[in-house]
Amino acid sequence: MALKERDEFSGQVTTGHEWNGIKELNTPVPRLLWVFLSTMGLFAIGWTIMMPSWPGVSGYFRGLLGADQHEAVQQSLVEAEAERSIWSERLASEDLATLAADQSIMTAVRQTGPALFGDNCAGCHGYSATGNAGYPNIAEAPMMWGGDADTIAETIRIGINANHPETRYGQMLAFGRDQMLGSAEISALADYLVSMQGEKFLTPEENAAAQTLFADNCAGCHGEDARGMVETGAPNLTDAHWTYGDDRATIRQSIYNGRQGTMPAWEGRLSTAQIRLLALYVMDLRGDIP
Ligand code: HEC
Ligand code: HEC
Repeated sequence: MALKERDEFSGQVTTGHEWNGIKELNTPVPRLLWVFLSTMGLFAIGWTIMMPSWPGVSGYFRGLLGADQHEAVQQSLVEAEAERSIWSERLASEDLATLAADQSIMTAVRQTGPALFGDNCAGCHGYSATGNAGYPNIAEAPMMWGGDADTIAETIRIGINANHPETRYGQMLAFGRDQMLGSAEISALADYLVSMQGEKFLTPEENAAAQTLFADNCAGCHGEDARGMVETGAPNLTDAHWTYGDDRATIRQSIYNGRQGTMPAWEGRLSTAQIRLLALYVMDLRGDIP
């Protein structure tokens, strides 16, 4: 280690660097530490005087400003709750048609609906409610159980094939597995449904035979015209909306093994106001609320 060199004129220690005979003195920056510390100290003292600070025996010093974040949060919670309870009370009790016509209610529905639907329903029906394989499109498809607000609210409340004493039962029978129809008959029916989509051509004889099979086995639930019946929850088989799939193989599967989709019952898990809010939200997604 080199010895510290002193500048002969000022007596200061040099840094040891030298540029063309000029040496640099090792002069530290001025000592601002004390200024810094005392500023902090002053600020801290000021803060403890103005703001809630020192603990005491029965509480704490509340500060000259009386600022209290806890109270502020409490206050805004109380205000939000009061506001919400006004419309959640109305949502729980008033006629759904009246509510649908009320702009302030529909604003609340549009603000609250996406999060409520996202948390509880999107997992099966998708965020935009357009469905997934096995889960119906409830934003666009005709409702199997009926599409007015009260019926939708009821479907959400009691579910379908769910664990609720009043639940709706939608039972597409397993015609193949339970040996009610043979393989050829199931194929004829699958061809018949595919032909209604315009994707297969049946001879008049094939069509007539399939129509008879349909009338004998399927019309009781799906209707003579195959357009579905809300009484049985059986869907329209002539349109473009399919819960399980519209290709021949999937249709054959539906007829062979049956289908019993489960829609959970939400009574007890969501409040009445939330269930009715979701009914309005779904109606709104469907474009059924002006
Ligand atoms: C675990 C999956 C699942 C979740 C979660 C779920 N659903 Fe469903 N939902 C279904 C299935 C499956 C059906 C179709 C049942 C059937 O008819 O076979 C259905 C049917 C429906 C129907 C009736 C459709 C019709 O055509 O009549 C509505 C309305 C509905 N769901 C709304 C909701 C709402 C609102 C939520 C959230 C609170 C929700 N669902 C959550 C699975 C789910
Ligand atoms: C007891 C009533 C009932 C009978 C009888 C019945 N269905 Fe169904 N069917 C339903 C219900 C309810 C559903 C909806 C099941 C679901 O969504 O989980 C359904 C669904 C279907 C589907 C699936 C539709 C889709 O969206 O993917 C097809 C295909 C179908 N039925 C064809 C038939 C044919 C063909 C027959 C006659 C052989 C028949 N059904 C007889 C009640 C019935």
